[in-house]
Amino acid sequence: MRKKIVAGNWKMNVDLNESTDLIKSIKKIYDHNIDVEVCIAPSFPFLKESTELCQGEKIKVLAQNVNDNLKGAFTGEVSIHMLKSINVDGVILGHSERREYYNEDDDLLLRKLKVSLKNNFKVYFCIGESLEDREKNNHFEKVKNQLDKTVFKIDNIDPENLVIAYEPIWAIGTGLTASPEQAQEIHKYIRNLLSERYGKKISDNTSIIYGGSVKPNSARDIFEKQDVDGGLIGGASLSPQDFIDIVRSI
Ligand code: PGA
Repeated sequence: MRKKIVAGNWKMNVDLNESTDLIKSIKKIYDHNIDVEVCIAPSFPFLKESTELCQGEKIKVLAQNVNDNLKGAFTGEVSIHMLKSINVDGVILGHSERREYYNEDDDLLLRKLKVSLKNNFKVYFCIGESLEDREKNNHFEKVKNQLDKTVFKIDNIDPENLVIAYEPIWAIGTGLTASPEQAQEIHKYIRNLLSERYGKKISDNTSIIYGGSVKPNSARDIFEKQDVDGGLIGGASLSPQDFIDIVRSI
């Protein structure tokens, strides 16, 4: 069976003290018996402290980016081995903010994806359409295209190591959420694409999570949908209570 996952993407929002406080508060109110993979993605400088604080807590710590090379003269970059050496569990790739502001195109993302999976580093891979795509009814074509150029170029995927995050760009940080029906419709479409590419077993076992303005009051209706296996949470993950309320909505 596929996993239920709620991941908090803290983006570039918190400093060391705030990041430590957030983790401590989450630990206080998090009920470990819930069968959900809970992840947080702090910024690079705080990852070591975060993995130490989360040790034995059933909270996974993710990076928000990684380089597509394993080592070498790449000033300012961070490698998979560096992240693994401080017990980081995986990485968010393909986020629309990285695609848009840092020009991460499908070719680069494919390289990052390949090197991560090859080195057994779990990837939370984001796809999603713009408002313009949605208004022109191009959203299905857009996500298919993104998958064709990245994930689907890889012949074997392991659902233990790859999570798909559907994040419509028009819903990220805007307060606009896809309706539960819109989310279900496209998650089902993505699952069918996975099935065509890798077979039903892999498709059934791959978690597809939703991201885009998920809040405690909207989470339950979205998570209830059959093909929605959890969420990637931005703004609301900066409030420990909201984040844990979202986790509890699964
Ligand atoms: P949001 O961000 O919840 O603030 O919309 C989601 C994301 O960017 O992953």
